[in-house]
Amino acid sequence: MAPDLLNPSPELKHVLMWSVPVLIIAPTVIFWYLQAVGNKKNPIRLPPSPLRLPIIGHLHLMVHELHQSLQRLARSLGPVIHLQLGGVATVVLSSPEAAKEVLKTHDVHCCSQPPSPGAKLMTYGQQDIAFSPYNASWRELRKLFVSELVGSKRVHTFSHALEAQVSELIQSLAPMTEPVNLNETLFTLIDSFIGTVAFGSMKGAKLMKYAKFQRVFSEATVALSAFSAQDFFPASPMSRWFDKLVGLERRYLRTFLEIDSYLEMVLTQHMDPGRVKPVKEDLVDVLISLWKGQGKITKDHVKALLGDAFIGGTATSSVTLLWAMSELIKNPAVMKKAQAEIRSLVGGKQRS
Ligand SMILES: *[C@@H]1O[C@H](CO)[C@@H](O)[C@H](O)[C@H]1NC(C)=O
Ligand SMILES: *[C@@H]1O[C@H](CO)[C@@H](O)[C@H](O)[C@H]1NC(C)=O
Repeated sequence: MAPDLLNPSPELKHVLMWSVPVLIIAPTVIFWYLQAVGNKKNPIRLPPSPLRLPIIGHLHLMVHELHQSLQRLARSLGPVIHLQLGGVATVVLSSPEAAKEVLKTHDVHCCSQPPSPGAKLMTYGQQDIAFSPYNASWRELRKLFVSELVGSKRVHTFSHALEAQVSELIQSLAPMTEPVNLNETLFTLIDSFIGTVAFGSMKGAKLMKYAKFQRVFSEATVALSAFSAQDFFPASPMSRWFDKLVGLERRYLRTFLEIDSYLEMVLTQHMDPGRVKPVKEDLVDVLISLWKGQGKITKDHVKALLGDAFIGGTATSSVTLLWAMSELIKNPAVMKKAQAEIRSLVGGKQRS
């Protein structure tokens, strides 16, 4: 999950507002020195770049309607642009060819993200799949994840859960005559599906006080996608103090502690010898048996992977669905076509 550049969070705006005066005084001399030395020894041909300001570089372009300002830049400078975001050199791609080059041809060199303090904390020091750098441990973990957790056999055992939830949703929507808040509906749908997959039967999941984990995990999503001064000025020790000063560090830590105690509770419940095992193992059971079975998977891995599944699963799926529905509503012709296609496939079949 990349930091959400398209929707700068309140933190980002806050950081940007403050970063100018604070970081002008900041000791960025070391960074300049290194850059100057680096440039002389090893001149890199950089892609075209708009005019930049001292110290903050192009950060001022990152605040307002980012996707539109990037589009304007791409129109005038081309599909590959260099932006200097504080102390971090960034390349922005805006064409399918350039994206393919980076995401496919040079994927191995481009797939690790720089460690962001929020993400590092939430993932138990990058012990997960989404935020770990590309290395041997990551490859092993991913192999395990794919074969044990999202392999076709497992996905198949979960499909009944999804079908049941979708049919419940449709039945609850069908008699409605008032406008429906699709955002909430879809969020709850995905949330309860992920909950079922992770925690077993729907009843069990409901008992676990949904409201709480939904709130905690959406806070974590914010922490994972928020920018901090350390993201833009990793070389400057001032940036750490700055994040402390604006309360970002404390906020990350609070969210992390909440998630951690939540996951601890889930693990404890699953390892309770008196617990009645569900017919089908859930995600937590699988991860626990991997942890107990072989030495390489630690408890932190288990917790970090569970975090990935929730944070990565809930928001992304519901946002995608919501976006698709909004586009369909705005384009009645396409909506008609989609409805006709579904009807031709499903016909008058009734669900039993
Ligand atoms: C891969 O990166 C993770 C996170 O930084 C680290 O914990 C792990 O030891 C690394 N593995 C190898 C083989 O370098
Ligand atoms: C959609 O719902 C989620 C969770 O309830 C909320 O965080 C988000 O702000 C909502 N988005 C919109 C566009 O209403």
